[in-house]
Amino acid sequence: MKLGQYQRELSVKERERKKERERHAVDKWGTRKTINNSSSSSSDSYKNIARAPVCTKADVATPLPLPSHAMESQGPFDALSDYADRYSSPLAPSLLKLYQDTLVAYPNGIAERLCSSPAQGQLLSLLARLKQPKQVLELGTFTGFSAMSIASGILQGQGQGKIYTCEKDEVALSIARPAFKSFNESISEAKVTIECHAINADSMISLMRSKGVVFDFVFIDCDKKGYLKYIQELMGERVGGVSDCNSNSTSLLADGAVVVIDNTLWKGLVLEAESSSNRSISRRNSSSNISSSNVSCSRTSSNRYMAIANSMHELNYYINHHPSLSQLILPIRDGLSVIQYNKKGN
Ligand SMILES: C[S@@+](CC[C@H](N)C(=O)[O-])C[C@H]1O[C@@H](n2cnc3c(N)ncnc32)[C@H](O)[C@@H]1O
Repeated sequence: MKLGQYQRELSVKERERKKERERHAVDKWGTRKTINNSSSSSSDSYKNIARAPVCTKADVATPLPLPSHAMESQGPFDALSDYADRYSSPLAPSLLKLYQDTLVAYPNGIAERLCSSPAQGQLLSLLARLKQPKQVLELGTFTGFSAMSIASGILQGQGQGKIYTCEKDEVALSIARPAFKSFNESISEAKVTIECHAINADSMISLMRSKGVVFDFVFIDCDKKGYLKYIQELMGERVGGVSDCNSNSTSLLADGAVVVIDNTLWKGLVLEAESSSNRSISRRNSSSNISSSNVSCSRTSSNRYMAIANSMHELNYYINHHPSLSQLILPIRDGLSVIQYNKKGN
């Protein structure tokens, strides 16, 4: 089915099923917008999409119930978000197919939680098109949608580049690898290539360090509690897991590199993490400086979600106070930070 036809059919169906959509919303990409744990409707808008092989979900952890104050959807902004989707440029056909394959292979809202949204993919694409990176690192491939989005942005800008991506889950890689293979084969003169490694992020950074690769574009989207560690490793402030602010280790980031980090507003719970951090700081009446140890986040909640929110707040605080980093946190979906690294400071 052609992209335009698919989108037209979807919007007709959306109009016809307004009531149902409110309960179980699906946008033009085929994405469920409301996660309410209700069972699938037999009239799912993406039921006609060609079925990809369904993978076992044994490796996908069952999510814990969200705290009641966490934001599951964008609430009143859903309608605006739908509008923005309707008037944003459509995904390239290869990306739309990969996204839809991911929805089918990871049903019941799992794909929507793990895969970048189409809007995020388009933002990555746009940034890559503007930046024209030569060497890209991605931590957390999943089924390859974000890596392919970056690749297509480089291509649209007539650039050349290599994307190194890593993923620890073989099930996700069973979808990403064929997509990368056909992408690599479709590009003449190897202008943009995607190299996928089935290893964890720590090993990937060590591997890249040993190869001496320096990156001008990085997307961090893997285990959320490791993000601060990864950015410190990339800047050479921490090597082999050991923190060293005075480290002379080479940075794996080129001057002016763009780093994009997902989940930085973590379900809105960073607000709570910030409040408890501030309470804790004022109790100790300590002065603030760049040390992330000053961000003493709440550990009172044993909730896994709050632990991640605390890590995200710590990361946001750290980046915001780092002299070589500037960042814009975009409140799209779970929060997406666009950061620039300038060695001599901003
Ligand atoms: C949110 S998904 C990535 C989504 C992908 N970037 C996209 O936009 O389509 C996170 C992925 O990171 C992988 N992952 C988690 N921790 C990892 C680690 N330490 N090293 C490598 N991959 C990891 C998970 O298996 C999962 O597939």
